[in-house]
Amino acid sequence: MCGIIGYIGPRNGTEVVIDGLKKLEYRGYDSWGIAIKGNPSLSVHKQVGKISDFDDLASLPPSSVAVGHTRWATNGSVTKANAHPHTCCRGKVAVVHNGIIENFQELKQELRSHHFVSETDTEIIAHLIEDNLSAGMHFKDAVTNALTRLEGRFAVVAVSADSKNVVAARKGSPLVIGIGKDEYFIASDIPAFLEHTRDVIFLDDGDVATISDGISFTDFEGGVVHREPVEITWNVEQASLNGHEHYMIKEILEQRSTVGLAVDQDDAKVLKVAKMINEAYGTFFIGCGTAGKVGLVGSYIFSTVAKKHVNAVVGSEFPSYHDFLTPKTLLVCISQSGETADTLEAIEVAKKKGCKVVSIVNVMGSTMLRMSDEYILCNSGPEKAVCSTKVTTAQIALLTLLAYACVGRLEEGKRLLNSVSLKLDVMLDGQYLDEIRFLAKKLAGHESMYIIGRGLNYPMALEGAIKMQEVPYIHAEGFAGGELKHGPIALIEDGTPCIALVANDGVKNEILINALEIKSRGGFIIGISPKDNDIFDFWIPVPDVAIASPIVNIIPIQLLSYFTALEKNCDPDKPRNLAKSVTVK
Ligand code: AGP
Repeated sequence: MCGIIGYIGPRNGTEVVIDGLKKLEYRGYDSWGIAIKGNPSLSVHKQVGKISDFDDLASLPPSSVAVGHTRWATNGSVTKANAHPHTCCRGKVAVVHNGIIENFQELKQELRSHHFVSETDTEIIAHLIEDNLSAGMHFKDAVTNALTRLEGRFAVVAVSADSKNVVAARKGSPLVIGIGKDEYFIASDIPAFLEHTRDVIFLDDGDVATISDGISFTDFEGGVVHREPVEITWNVEQASLNGHEHYMIKEILEQRSTVGLAVDQDDAKVLKVAKMINEAYGTFFIGCGTAGKVGLVGSYIFSTVAKKHVNAVVGSEFPSYHDFLTPKTLLVCISQSGETADTLEAIEVAKKKGCKVVSIVNVMGSTMLRMSDEYILCNSGPEKAVCSTKVTTAQIALLTLLAYACVGRLEEGKRLLNSVSLKLDVMLDGQYLDEIRFLAKKLAGHESMYIIGRGLNYPMALEGAIKMQEVPYIHAEGFAGGELKHGPIALIEDGTPCIALVANDGVKNEILINALEIKSRGGFIIGISPKDNDIFDFWIPVPDVAIASPIVNIIPIQLLSYFTALEKNCDPDKPRNLAKSVTVK
């Protein structure tokens, strides 16, 4: 939520920052802004709307130092005044911020002699720094001291008209520094500067980086900290559209290879995590949104393959389980970004009880990964569309692999998942896409639809509903097939579209009966299944992959979501009200 990018170096920082903001737009797209350091002044430019719509770079002054921000509104509505950067009364200090300052009202009261122009929590940081500068502190100390006053999660970058230093700090929200030749990039996420460098330093919580013609690190108390760069493996092609119209379709199609890449792990690491699960007394799969549905499908996979009970809980609800936690409890946290605030809070709660934490994440260096005792990377490359697709199936594959590893059948698990990967490569051809596009034309006119599944595919019915909600804005709901007759079937009218997820498994006949119950009441049945059936009004074939059916069954719904969004003229990559990385609770 919210993207930050800063530049210090010999190039035109204004251009680097505007370009970086465009690459970070998936983190927030309500409004954007940039602070450009002149000599000895700062100019701030802000706009409501998407940075991708801005094409007037020439209207902005060039500079070797600039800091920008693309916003997803939390505190304060979507207005130019609330867009970042925020400045102090004299316009000498500019601040960009990602996160939430919980005690901002209290601090604002204390700063009432200052002139506030926005409703945001961020603006208080600029005024706190201003007070510290007036008290005679150097810029770096003025920023650091101001940050010690803040409660909550934040990543902050501050720039001053009167100092050559740019100061960046984090507590709970991501910040990564790219190291180029005599130049530095500061960003919320690596894709912002990936075309310039792959050498990065991930800031830890409590780190303050001071950057001018060199870089140094301290903690919030001023103690020196040493941080070494690491080389990241993502490349520019992975982070760009690469000929596709949208990231969403690019990422859906990348599932031809990402399931295989997810499974390509260090065996020792997988076995170590499997051992942790086997030795735990109470394992929780934690995630939010789609990652929460992955956790739920994981609990079915563990039940079936590893004969193990695992609790699947959404991140925001997990703190309510704190009474049951002991040092033998294990959390397996599932997240694309590794920055989801609700899941991070679950980890904090668990850590207080001495629990162990494993994370399954896609972003190297993310907060979740670094809070965990062990981690497994999804290896999917950057996922930029707000709607999670390729990482979802990579995470399901990894939980499947772990379930097999828990019962000493790792190789069998790998063989199954690698065969799924090959089948997806065949499945996702042009004709397949055309058929789903045809169905999308029919669906686009409907306001509501339902998705049913049983067993392993019940969580996929829930996940399918998220796909149809967040991108084409269809009121979609997922149900366990058996639950229909307990209420939801009353919603079925003549022509109501309903997707039935029918795998070749032990609940096949039951889910077909549920689909028939809907059809008998006028429902239009879209069957996703390895085999056609008379009950289906429209059949979407998928390969028969046994226990891995959730992986192949969700992909047609991802495609349906994408093509229906196109039919309805919705932006598939930037759905309204959403952001890719949900860093607030
Ligand atoms: C997925 O399509 C959603 N945009 C959303 O539910 C997402 O999965 C959720 O916010 C969790 O994000 P994470 O995987 O980065 O933790």
